[in-house]
Amino acid sequence: MSVVDELADGLEKARRRSLELLRPLPEEALVAQYSDLMSPLVWDLAHIGNYEDLWLVRQLGGPAVLPAVDELYDAFLQPRARRPALPLLSPAETRQYIARVRGRCLDLLSAADLGSEDPFLAGGFGYRMVIQHEHQHNETMLATLQLSGIESDYGGFESDGLGWAKTGESRVPAATFVMGTDTDPWALDNERPAHSVHLDDYFIDARPVDNEAWMEFMEAGGYEENSLWSPDGWAWKSQEQISAPLFWERDGGGVWKRRHLGRATELRPNDAVQNVGWYEAEAFARWAGRRLPTEQEWERAHRAGLIEGVGEVWEWTSSDFLPYPGFRPFPYREYSEVFFGKEYKVLRGSSWATHATVGRPTFRNWDYPVRRQIFSGLRTARDG
Ligand code: AVJ
Ligand code: FE
Repeated sequence: MSVVDELADGLEKARRRSLELLRPLPEEALVAQYSDLMSPLVWDLAHIGNYEDLWLVRQLGGPAVLPAVDELYDAFLQPRARRPALPLLSPAETRQYIARVRGRCLDLLSAADLGSEDPFLAGGFGYRMVIQHEHQHNETMLATLQLSGIESDYGGFESDGLGWAKTGESRVPAATFVMGTDTDPWALDNERPAHSVHLDDYFIDARPVDNEAWMEFMEAGGYEENSLWSPDGWAWKSQEQISAPLFWERDGGGVWKRRHLGRATELRPNDAVQNVGWYEAEAFARWAGRRLPTEQEWERAHRAGLIEGVGEVWEWTSSDFLPYPGFRPFPYREYSEVFFGKEYKVLRGSSWATHATVGRPTFRNWDYPVRRQIFSGLRTARDG
């Protein structure tokens, strides 16, 4: 397949997924806001199209399809909680809008010079950025759907952990390794540049922490024992009393179940625990006599083939979201740079809801440590 065909196919697959995800939902479900943390689904869908209008149609010479809606769908101008009150395009108008943007985008693609020196066009970077943006918003829409309680049959993707070959922990010998990338055509600004990092010996769980282990933590008083929570974790916990991962609930017989896309499901003991926040993850690791890995430790172990189950859940790390040495914002500061700092923790890997164009060894996700609605879990580590 030529690069142009590959990019057109990537755009098409992302769009099919967006529409498929939302297809069964009635109009009311698309315009409702189910949580202050999330947008109405129709906002995400129009924002996907608006991002493509801004970052492909206009960058490639335009003309813009509908610049009048730029402000409505700007994630920085419009805080999530206020999005439902905006004069948004209706679901039907949104579908029409994103289809028009897509049509223009494909016309421009057939004439685009991907051999250009312009780093935005070279190798199709801009297209790859837009493809993975749509997939990332699909995962966000799935998190919204999960919060809504609406039933959905959406299946997600397979993780790489089907072999179950490894158990316990893997020893990772001291080494200097290359972190990040200069060459992956899908890599975003925060994954660049490639740089050397030295790590001493350490051990890391071969698999993500599973439901069975989490249940032991709960039975040992993990959610009650103040000493297990770091001081700011405890302060947060006292604001909102929690006693289990988000979406866990007891059935009539007192057995823990997990509500998944609108249905109560068995908690399979060896599935990765998900929908836990960073504070819980960190408390679990401490209870187990271990710690969260740094993102450097995670990336080294993954590159060395020493961890499995990557792709089940996003994995919290102990690392703050910071720029790599030599970082340069590209193509715009609001992709990553404005988020750098101590407020955000890095998550690595990908979840069952993450498309392959996003889940790569160098990809860095980030969120506030209190967040639990993302499909987040953990694996633990210890010094060697
Ligand atoms: C990388 C998942 C934190 O959802 O805020 C979407 C991805 N960037 N639109 C987010 C993103 C712009 C981002 N995360
Ligand atoms: Fe976005």
